[in-house]
Amino acid sequence: MTKLSVNINKIALIRNSRGANYPDLLKVALDCETFGAQGITVHPRPDQRHVKYSDIGPLKSSVTTEFNIEGYPSKDFLELVIQHKPDQCTLVPDLPGALTSDNGWDTNTHLAHLKEIVKRLQGEGIRVSLFIDPIAERLHAAKDTGTDRIEFYTGPYAHDYNINMEEAILPFAQAAKLCEDLDLGINAGHDLNLDNLKYFKNHVPNLLEVSIGHAIVCDSIYYGLKNTIQMYLKQLQ
Ligand code: PXP
Repeated sequence: MTKLSVNINKIALIRNSRGANYPDLLKVALDCETFGAQGITVHPRPDQRHVKYSDIGPLKSSVTTEFNIEGYPSKDFLELVIQHKPDQCTLVPDLPGALTSDNGWDTNTHLAHLKEIVKRLQGEGIRVSLFIDPIAERLHAAKDTGTDRIEFYTGPYAHDYNINMEEAILPFAQAAKLCEDLDLGINAGHDLNLDNLKYFKNHVPNLLEVSIGHAIVCDSIYYGLKNTIQMYLKQLQ
């Protein structure tokens, strides 16, 4: 089974644009769960333009499905994560001010640093996932960090899917086999949508979780949140 974790950053962005608590982020998170989402993802960025640090406590105490916090492992971020203990923490290599995550970790270069952080988070009972491109040597180094899972950065897949879907999926299908050999759990995210999700899932059979934000919010404008979540769940069946 592949879990759908809804990234609610864009909901927070709309709320923040007017200053009041509307839409109510917590209510949207709980509604996502009611409509069938099996997880909620947040990405508190250093400038807090999306989900704010102050959102994390109320979300953690109310979300009943899997709670995933993703972000760059700065001192502040790690303190936040350790304070609230989500089910999973996804580490991304984003620089402060990044528009969105647009590449995975170079796990060879950052091996020692990541190893230390993975150990620290796991010591707090938090499952760790590393955002990564489907490159064999980086997956081997990811294994050496001790991480539980990796999250494939699927931006390039989504882009290339519209040009040649067989070529687009190939590196991910090969990397997924390697992850199985290395006993690394697989998550995936970025630019996944109603067009490209099913094909990805079909070629990465050991896919444990997808985290999707932007497309779910865009599709909800036309289909509504409940229908949209159910349409995504159908793609993952
Ligand atoms: N995974 C990571 C690490 C991300 O940074 C994001 C975007 O915040 C996503 C998944 C979800 O991407 P999208 O909003 O394109 O679905």
